[in-house]
Amino acid sequence: MMPDMPDGTRVLLTRDEIAARVTVLGAEIERDYAGREPVLVSVLKGGTVFLADLFRAIDLPARVDFMSISRYEESAAPTGVVRILKDLDHDIVGRDVIVVEDIIDTGLTLSYLLGALRQREPASLEVCTLLDKAVRRIAPLEIRYAGFDCPDVFAVGYGLDASERFRNLPFIVAVERSAVASAPELLLPLLTS
Ligand code: IMP
Ligand code: MG
Repeated sequence: MMPDMPDGTRVLLTRDEIAARVTVLGAEIERDYAGREPVLVSVLKGGTVFLADLFRAIDLPARVDFMSISRYEESAAPTGVVRILKDLDHDIVGRDVIVVEDIIDTGLTLSYLLGALRQREPASLEVCTLLDKAVRRIAPLEIRYAGFDCPDVFAVGYGLDASERFRNLPFIVAVERSAVASAPELLLPLLTS
């Protein structure tokens, strides 16, 4: 049962819709990487919920590794330049790397990260994102695997946060731009229903 939705919000993707798509993405990766041992790289923290489900949908000897980054938010214009707070635990030289993301918005962060990872000479480097907010793209990116097109709304749940909360919602909610500021309060009833 889906709860009643607060004003300014609507369900973007149900638990079942997400699960079905994740199964398909996992099967595609499994087929494309047959005979290889890909490393799924997740950028903390948004992508971890998706990663956990995707990883279990791939029946290959795959591995996971994590990075944590911080954006330089003081600068007026976003550049995508980030500081690495936690680097990968293992070398990726000669490995088949798949960066697993929750959502790609402007693409600035990811395009900077991909540049940094490419310098480490992986055998291959691809991107798998659950949501692709293509209308907002600034940095052109080649996305090999995309779960769903995302409209220009603020998406929350299934790993995506509003001020660090609601990552544990099992479905994804779209919050209208005008309601984003009050999103944390608006969404609270969804956690208790
Ligand atoms: P980009 O550099 O603009 O592509 O930033 C992407 C990052 O911004 C994602 O990994 C998210 O952490 C965050 N983000 C972008 N759009 C949303 C959204 O709709 N909901 C929650 N987080 C978002
Ligand atoms: Mg993120």
